[in-house]
Amino acid sequence: IPLYEFNCVESTQRMAKVLYDRYKYDTYVVWAKEQLKGRGRRERVWHSPRGGLYFSLFYENLEVRFPQLASLASGLAMREALKEIADICCDLKWPNDILYRDKKLCGILSEAASCGTDVHRVIIGVGVNVNAEIPHELKDIAVCLKEIIGNEVDLEGLLSLSAERLLFRIAQLETKEGQEEILDSYKRHCTTLGSTVTIILDEGSITGQAIDITQEGALQVLASGTLHSIATGDVIHVR
Ligand code: BTN
Repeated sequence: IPLYEFNCVESTQRMAKVLYDRYKYDTYVVWAKEQLKGRGRRERVWHSPRGGLYFSLFYENLEVRFPQLASLASGLAMREALKEIADICCDLKWPNDILYRDKKLCGILSEAASCGTDVHRVIIGVGVNVNAEIPHELKDIAVCLKEIIGNEVDLEGLLSLSAERLLFRIAQLETKEGQEEILDSYKRHCTTLGSTVTIILDEGSITGQAIDITQEGALQVLASGTLHSIATGDVIHVR
């Protein structure tokens, strides 16, 4: 699939949309060595210095009823890519944070837009802390691959492995069996299940026990006797 490579962009997520308007490719990857305005979920900033891996996968024509599942499938795919390249086991925190011993190693921003009833366009933005040192103030909550395995990792190798795993897992969503397999594997590695969680909503928050993930990818939280289904939060409409 086409790969667009940049030295420095504001955000690969934004660049992916610009390239779509220009070339209308089906599926492609946008990779940048550095981002000046890297975006995280919930309008947060994603610190993106050189040495990290920042890319967006644009996927056109995903035929699936619940595009939110692309977000879970991506988390699973990145867990697999990290396992393969560095031989480490990460946990998934719903919806798609990838943690190594409780510290964030990789974050995913998944944006979807509908183009017809069950056909969607998704942009999966992935940021992995690879060779760049984690700033002092974030050391309690974040970790980089270099710190875990003791040596630098080739960004291009991790990129191609990640893209391969992502494409496989996203395509798998198109069948019912595939969806079930993804949900099963996801749940196995998701440490959110069984924990007490506080979910920050646009208005207020809910604290309770995370008990399951629905077929749509929503998290079910039992709080004061009431079951809440929390949809895969930030599926932002691209257009
Ligand atoms: C999060 O955990 O909040 C998600 C972080 C996603 C960061 C990636 S880096 C590549 C892509 N471009 C962006 O601006 N953000 C995503």
